[in-house]
Amino acid sequence: MNYTYLIVEPHVLPGVSLVRLNRPKELNALCLELMDELVLAIKSLDQDEATRCIVITGNEKAFAAGADIKQMSTKSPIDMLKIDQFTKWDQIRKTRKPLIAAVSGFALGGGCELAMLCDMIIASESAQFGQPEIKLGVMPGAGGTQRLTRAVGKAVAMEMVLTGRFLSAREALSVGLINRVVPVELYLQEALQMGAKVASQAPLALQLAKEAVLKAFDTSLEEGLLFERKNFYLLFATDDQKEGMNAFTEKRSPNFKGN
Ligand code: CAA
Repeated sequence: MNYTYLIVEPHVLPGVSLVRLNRPKELNALCLELMDELVLAIKSLDQDEATRCIVITGNEKAFAAGADIKQMSTKSPIDMLKIDQFTKWDQIRKTRKPLIAAVSGFALGGGCELAMLCDMIIASESAQFGQPEIKLGVMPGAGGTQRLTRAVGKAVAMEMVLTGRFLSAREALSVGLINRVVPVELYLQEALQMGAKVASQAPLALQLAKEAVLKAFDTSLEEGLLFERKNFYLLFATDDQKEGMNAFTEKRSPNFKGN
């Protein structure tokens, strides 16, 4: 499939596929067309057996500077309701395979929200995270008030959402928003390597483990523990569980097949 606003590179490393947002002049502003393509691309990689982990990136200057303000500025509430773009974003949240964001430069508004839809975030030293919608007379609409608050807590989320202040990569690391900060020339490589590490694990275990961690955000501890336990037991139906445990006993590396 040919994309206008993305570059999709399947299997850049074993099991790892890369999706680059490619609207550089607009700092990868997330216009509707780009997001439609992104949802499609992620869905098709989610269904690709040879892809076990997906990395989403932008370029050195911008991961994404938010939803497209120019495209949005004249919309009425009914237009917004009819387009209902954030329901499409939910499709990304439903990706079964692990998603890693490789962020450099601006990750603002919808860009920060897109990074937070991913399961892990690797940032370059130049990355800046922010929810500046308040300066536009609006507020975050794609999870910024919810995922950010869960990730960094009320005080920092309130400051970011109510003042629009950006966090540097180091600050984002210190408040637990991201996993790692590396020099600019290494952020993509680092994310891909982390992707390869993830991709070398048993795919069904990855899927059920991801599901269980995400469950922690919207359930009680009791229900979450029950969910976790059922997923754990279910994995004993897989060949990869036998392979993983046999490999441990036989002191060799496992060869996971995804069954
Ligand atoms: N939408 C549309 N176009 C954007 C954009 C956006 N979010 N961000 C940047 N651009 C465009 C600029 O208009 C400019 O285009 P022109 O050359 O045609 O004028 C081009 O990208 C380069 O941007 P700047 O000249 O502004 O670059 P800069 O380095 O001086 O500033 C910046 C960079 C601080 C990121 C600044 O562009 C900026 O503040 N962008 C908007 C950030 C923002 O408010 N994001 C939130 C959007 S709303 C949202 O995301 C809602 C939601 O919850 C989903």
